[in-house]
Amino acid sequence: MAEERATPLRLGSTAPNFKAETTTGPIDFHEFIGDKWVVLFSHPEDFTPVCTTELGAFAKLEPEFTKRGVKLIGLSANTVGSHGDWIKDIDEVTGSKVSFPIIADKERKVAYLYDMLDYQDTTNVDEKGIAFTIRSVFIIDPKKTIRLILSYPASTGRNTAEVLRVVDSLQTGDKHKITTPINWVPGDDVIVHPAVKNEQAKELFPDFRIVKPYLRFTPLPKDKTSAS
Ligand code: BEZ
Repeated sequence: MAEERATPLRLGSTAPNFKAETTTGPIDFHEFIGDKWVVLFSHPEDFTPVCTTELGAFAKLEPEFTKRGVKLIGLSANTVGSHGDWIKDIDEVTGSKVSFPIIADKERKVAYLYDMLDYQDTTNVDEKGIAFTIRSVFIIDPKKTIRLILSYPASTGRNTAEVLRVVDSLQTGDKHKITTPINWVPGDDVIVHPAVKNEQAKELFPDFRIVKPYLRFTPLPKDKTSAS
């Protein structure tokens, strides 16, 4: 059962804990996180077209998330039995093998706890008038801190490569004193963190260059090219 959500979830909030049934068995969410990063993503309904493509895509990219110490967990507002039947379709249609857990949130308790429900689009409801669970993505770090929140409309599929890119940016930024610019992908130059003074930047990043006093680019030195 999910706990009540007292305050809005923001970047930096602790990911609320909950217990839930999933396609791989019951979980306590904080125990599930353990010492890993987690991508939690939600779906409006089972057997819906956009969600089918999304789950297949996440399953195909799962090895890349695993390499980065990231666990995937989906959520959809239906039962475990329904999820199981849907997974067969997803694997058939997309050529994937969905093996990460999908939370059964028929009562939308976790969706409420994580503020995933559609507010503005009042037509986005099921036959009982309950708002569908929207397409949310949460990236949660091993300290259980929420590091990214994305909300997509039901009509628009997400971009798994973008979710992975943010993981790369967050992990690289945590490891080194850098931030990442627009459209950054691993291998591109990064930005020296504003808190790092030029003297320290010279030591950390010998090839850094000053474009403006507040905008300093650097390649990541060879031994720092990944987050690990
Ligand atoms: C879909 O996943 O295709 C979908 C779900 C709910 C509303 C509209 C589309």
